[in-house]
Amino acid sequence: MPRNRLGLAGALAAVLIAAGIATGTPAQAHEEPRTQAHERPATLAQLAERHGRYFGSATDNPELTDTAYTKILGREFDMITPGNGMKWYATEPRQGVFDWTNGDQIVNLAHANHQRVRAHTLVWHSQLPDWLTSGTWTADELRAVLKKHITTEVRHYRGKVYSWDVVNEAFNEDGTYRDTIWYRTLGPGYIADALRWAHQADPHAKLYLNDYNIEATGPKSDAYYALAKQLKAQHVPLDGIGLQAHLALQYGYPTTLEDNLRRFSRLGLDTALTEVDVRMQLPATDAKLTEQATWYRDLTGACLAVRGCVGVTIWDYTDRYSWIPAVFPGEGAALPWDEQLNTKPAYHALREALR
Ligand code: G3I
Repeated sequence: MPRNRLGLAGALAAVLIAAGIATGTPAQAHEEPRTQAHERPATLAQLAERHGRYFGSATDNPELTDTAYTKILGREFDMITPGNGMKWYATEPRQGVFDWTNGDQIVNLAHANHQRVRAHTLVWHSQLPDWLTSGTWTADELRAVLKKHITTEVRHYRGKVYSWDVVNEAFNEDGTYRDTIWYRTLGPGYIADALRWAHQADPHAKLYLNDYNIEATGPKSDAYYALAKQLKAQHVPLDGIGLQAHLALQYGYPTTLEDNLRRFSRLGLDTALTEVDVRMQLPATDAKLTEQATWYRDLTGACLAVRGCVGVTIWDYTDRYSWIPAVFPGEGAALPWDEQLNTKPAYHALREALR
């Protein structure tokens, strides 16, 4: 197994160098940026910071007992997103009874490692507690439930998090509003209300709308553009648009990403790539891993090219803890570290993009 891995790594390095994607190994001609103190290669976070950006990872509470994992998590990134710990089912499991255990654990760990936190997420249709989804609510009742949840959670983390994904996944692929408990009961105004309540509870947190399949221009991304423009015109406190970027090799690279980021910037909004992974149909071959590396390089380059794009977060950093195999059977290998926590070509491509 180790011999196979070394062989594979060597072959990939040759392919990457030939393709113009330097691997960043000490043997090559490029000088690796070093931290001054210990002559260690700079981390992804340090490389990103030189561009005024962050480089983050999601994490989840059950993973935090894995010390090999937490070592890299604490070292390589400067922004952390809780993958589940701040969602409604975790934070308000019974109506009016709040539980900060999981969210606090991640915030405390991040702060101990001098990392900031992208908090995720306040208003979503998924991972809601049963008391909420099985209840029958008038609009006034549900609005009060939503306001209390947002106000209580955002106040709890006030001053401790950099940003909030206030509303997650509000639109369908065709750009119409997703039919959720929120939209059905409250109408589209729930989005502006949520942003205003969050802003009242923590005026300094950056407030985002966040979704997948909005990396390229198209109906869904256009819907965000139109909504963002409208919200800005109404002085609703919206700071940014989060493009999740759950990409898949078989669907092609979103070539309009950079233009798309730029049009949101022109509205005066921040943008961020918030949940990046690049999955593939298994098995992972050298060719697929090389293509994946170019995607990681290009999406990072797109963010760096657009002034308003503040950072990139990968949806956990290792295939060991990826959500993908459970949801897309036969797919995976989506992250820059493999299941053994070894770096993959994508990791070196990220370094190259950030250099
Ligand atoms: O908490 C239960 C646990 O009690 C139970 O024993 C266990 C058995 O299946 O399941 C646990 O819940 C799982 C939960 O993660 C916590 O681990 C759910 O089954 C599982 O479906 C859930 O998956 C999460 C998924 O959101 C739900 O949609 C992933 O971990 C999380 O990474 C993923 O994150 C989302 C973002 O929030 C929004 N964008 C898409 C992204 C990927 O789906």
